Amino acid sequence: MQSNNPGLPHGLAPERLRGDWRFGEDARPMVDITVTDRDGGVHRVAAREGVSLMETLRELEYGVAAICGGMCSCATCHVYVAEPWLDLLPPMQGDEKEILQELESYRPRGSRLSCQVPMEAPLAGLEVEIAPEE
Ligand code: FES
Repeated sequence: MQSNNPGLPHGLAPERLRGDWRFGEDARPMVDITVTDRDGGVHRVAAREGVSLMETLRELEYGVAAICGGMCSCATCHVYVAEPWLDLLPPMQGDEKEILQELESYRPRGSRLSCQVPMEAPLAGLEVEIAPEE
């Protein structure tokens, strides 16, 4: 369905704009999430929808390094996801779980590689904590 609203990006219908949705510089919808940094600072962050959580976190000064670029091989994008959100995430695939279990900072309930977490509408309000560097 094509939008008749000249203020919307081509092809986006007004009904996509419910709730807290906004558009970032690249015209992707944005959703607010809460990020706790390694010093305990809490930040409200606008995350881009349609890409991994890591893509937003690596742009933050206090975010993740993500040195493999999302190839699920470095674990430098490790985060702890708050309990209410865990069951909304896609299940871990074998590689992700194997890598996480090798970390000293691994938590069986909460650890995820942010490059394996797709940002989608149901995750608006997501709360994550950046895991310690290893
Ligand atoms: S960015 Fe390397 S494992 Fe996620």
